[in-house]
Amino acid sequence: MSQTEQRTAIPQHNIEARFEEPTHGPSTSSEWWRRSVIYQIYPRSFRDTTGNGIGDLPGITAELHHIAALGVDAIWLSPFFASPQKDAGYDVSDYRAVDPIFGTLEDFDALIAEANRLGVKILVDLVPNHCSNEHALFVEALASPKGSSAREHFIFRDGRGVDCQLPPNNWQSHFGGPAWTRITEPDGTPGQYYLHLFDSAQPDFNWDNPAVGDEFESVLRFWLDRGAGGFRVDVAHALIKASGLPDWDGRADGADSPGYPFADAPMFGQPAVHEVYRRWRSICEEYEGERVLCAEANVHPIESMADWVRPDEMHQSFNFPFLHTGWDHAALKAIITRSLKAFGAVNAPSTWVLSNHDVPRHATRLGATAPSPRPGDGLGPQDEQPDIVLGLARARAATLFMLGLPGGAYLYQGEELGLGDNTMLPNEHRQDPSYARTNGERLGRDGCRVPLPWDDSSSSLGFSDSAASWLPQPAEWAKLTRQAQETDPDSTLNFYRNALALRSSSQLGLGNLNWLEDTTNGQLLGFENTGVMVALNLGVEPVALPAGEVLLASSSEALSPAGPEGSAVLLNPNAAVWLRRASS
Ligand code: NOJ
Repeated sequence: MSQTEQRTAIPQHNIEARFEEPTHGPSTSSEWWRRSVIYQIYPRSFRDTTGNGIGDLPGITAELHHIAALGVDAIWLSPFFASPQKDAGYDVSDYRAVDPIFGTLEDFDALIAEANRLGVKILVDLVPNHCSNEHALFVEALASPKGSSAREHFIFRDGRGVDCQLPPNNWQSHFGGPAWTRITEPDGTPGQYYLHLFDSAQPDFNWDNPAVGDEFESVLRFWLDRGAGGFRVDVAHALIKASGLPDWDGRADGADSPGYPFADAPMFGQPAVHEVYRRWRSICEEYEGERVLCAEANVHPIESMADWVRPDEMHQSFNFPFLHTGWDHAALKAIITRSLKAFGAVNAPSTWVLSNHDVPRHATRLGATAPSPRPGDGLGPQDEQPDIVLGLARARAATLFMLGLPGGAYLYQGEELGLGDNTMLPNEHRQDPSYARTNGERLGRDGCRVPLPWDDSSSSLGFSDSAASWLPQPAEWAKLTRQAQETDPDSTLNFYRNALALRSSSQLGLGNLNWLEDTTNGQLLGFENTGVMVALNLGVEPVALPAGEVLLASSSEALSPAGPEGSAVLLNPNAAVWLRRASS
């Protein structure tokens, strides 16, 4: 029986509604971004039409109808610009060109035309903090003398100590090692250092130079003119650095201070950055069709993240604290409450996300049977392997719970197939720069970036017409292809379709959350939103549900009858449900 066919009368028990103040701002029907579902496409791993093992824009155009049919509003398209691919395209050498491995500008236009036909917006991933060391401006800066205007596009400084042998400050690269690289001057002498918060192939722009801002405003217009629905803005918190570039002892990825990383970091969250986004918002508003900006602003606490979505700045900001909250009743309740309050205070929607191309997929994270040996990083063949069955059950439950929340939701390609990471990826395939920069101490993010399984038409599971796949796919994915899941009513694919359809028809994205009082000793986390009760069992015992009509359960094993008569329904551990309570 499919989840939507489950219609069960269940007795009231255990849970009482306790209504609280509405936490969500008003909206008009045209403000699509307040309730949107945005699906992330990682182009190199989506669908390859050339047989070279790397996905491309024509592959996205060809398969987009599958994603539109899921019921998503927009696609966030990870970078497809000209790039030497040192950080999978987040090292851009030309912001107005498509990299030949992905296609051409005409292919982009064709993708926009298909997206328009399907009623889906395409959000372009803009990378304004840094470019590639092969970008014309950086090449020119290297060829120009110290103090020249060409150098002013980037952050060049003299070194410290004897013969300037020490970097200008102690900042560390996000990918490991120092955040500075020394150059050889055009005359052949050892020279200045340039700043790169990420790989040495990704020099940071100098946003104190107005010419940099002008260039990006022109890039924004270039893609808006071509029909982009808006932008996901990479490292949106880092553009402006504190003057004087003072030393800072923290680790750039915050992994050393999980509570409030970055709160005092001189390279993140500087107040002047907000002026940039005010200008960008006004540019977006010159265009028809509600073009949007979404911040990757990884600042803490969440109350300061809300600064990026004040009414004249961006429309949305990713909610990383939610993503990083584990299978924990109190922590989930706390971060959701804080998120709705913080974003509600500036009349912005909160967003929710469980997976993306930078973190282990939630089907893998939630199946972990041991603490991660490298928090925030992928698992490798030498690590204790996750419990795949538990991980998928929890992932579907977490997704159903997330999609019940008011605000915007983000999905990462392949989660609708129930994919986890390739945790057995042999090291010789790793391409994430953090692997090489830490001499293999960090495994990096390749495990969550493995090309999608489409069907059984080739040995790359239909990803490519050939056997090629830039990262190997796990053998068990043969059972998880989109084709294999298409007609199975209990498949993860059909579960996502049902959840997204019900989310839309019940207007959950525009609702208000009211927590339900927990009488289950920290097992059941539940709330009501627009008359739908959303409940997640984080405990180890089944929990009785109130009387009502089950709208959707996270799997066919999520519910069991309570008694021999089968008259009551229990929500099993690692499961979630949406139900409409019987009127009393
Ligand atoms: C965040 C992106 O999501 C990540 O993939 C990239 O490596 C860094 N920014 C640097 O651009």
